[in-house]
Amino acid sequence: AEALRVGIAGLGTVGASVARVLTEKAAELTRQCGREIVVTAVSARDSTRDRGVDLSAAQWFADPVELARSADIDVLVELIGGEEGPARASVTAALEAGRHVVTANKALLARHGVALAEIAEEKGILLNYEAAVAGGIPVIKTMREAMAGNTVSRVFGILNGTCNYILTRMEAEGLSFEDCLKDAQRLGYAEADPTFDIEGNDTAHKLSILTSLAFGNRIAADDIYLEGISNITQADIRAASELGYRIKLLGVALRTESGIEQRVHPTMVPTASVIAQVHGVTNAVAIETDILGELLLSGPGAGGNATASAVVGDIADIAKSRPGFQHGPVFGRPAKELQPYRKAR
Ligand code: NDP
Ligand code: HSE
Repeated sequence: AEALRVGIAGLGTVGASVARVLTEKAAELTRQCGREIVVTAVSARDSTRDRGVDLSAAQWFADPVELARSADIDVLVELIGGEEGPARASVTAALEAGRHVVTANKALLARHGVALAEIAEEKGILLNYEAAVAGGIPVIKTMREAMAGNTVSRVFGILNGTCNYILTRMEAEGLSFEDCLKDAQRLGYAEADPTFDIEGNDTAHKLSILTSLAFGNRIAADDIYLEGISNITQADIRAASELGYRIKLLGVALRTESGIEQRVHPTMVPTASVIAQVHGVTNAVAIETDILGELLLSGPGAGGNATASAVVGDIADIAKSRPGFQHGPVFGRPAKELQPYRKAR
């Protein structure tokens, strides 16, 4: 089979890691997918910066939208970030041109995911986004593909690695909030604007995607009750600890009789509970259903390698797909059939 030609827009923490994994694991990926995966085009702002991987064979595009429309790619991998601007423009351009898309951009999906899914489904192409929720944890495939027939009653978890890293180190090492946040930024866990992490917006973006998969509703990130961790002090953490609790930033979505309840806020969880044992950049997602019962997935929630693992998995799925194959719907059921969001009273 012909090689799958990949264009990567964004060569930061995640984009550079994806390019490196595709290069270092090329032989293994070819064996697994039955065809080569080749990075034929890349885009970032600074064309002179060393990205730690040899990209000299790839065509450079200053404009990611031009990359998205290039006839030399089969897949756009969008790793720029942001709900508008070049991320939205390049993803839209790629889908309209009939190119598959892989993205880790939860902000974009929380705002425009349903509209983008409609284009992908109309064109019969793939829009894959495993890395957008809980980093390396394969929660999207689990909910979209492995849980068919299950009725979900509740989904909740620790969905932001930066916040969990900060809370863990504040408790374990007595460090200040500011120092922990700086380390999370240095390690590549935080968003370009870390306010999105610490004020809970990033958790809300991810939760809104899980809610849609769980309950079949249109994505409604703006309807989430939101409270972040920026006001949590050492005194709060110590007080919780003395009472036998740990503070975790949780995203919670459940089905109620009057509609769907979605909330994001710091929560006191008993120190002996499983969720309290989720430390550092690790994320955890709990899903409760009628057939399966309770499922708990945990694993690395942010960072270059963890996120690249999920992105490369999405690219490999495309490499394995065959022309003419009808793909499953992006959010588990056809985008046009997602129900209007009904907020619990
Ligand atoms: P970075 O800020 O490290 O990288 C962003 C990249 O986008 C940079 O290479 C930047 O170029 C490039 N870029 C910005 N604007 C433009 C533009 N106008 N044209 C072309 N390129 C542009 O972000 P991350 O790698 O951390 O995140 C990327 C995406 O992945 C985001 O959506 C994020 O939410 C998501 N994500 C991140 C995770 C993480 O752990 N970091 C985990 C899961 C998802 P330059 O380098 O030249 O400045
Ligand atoms: N900033 C995000 C986090 C990246 O810390 O969880 C992963 O989505």
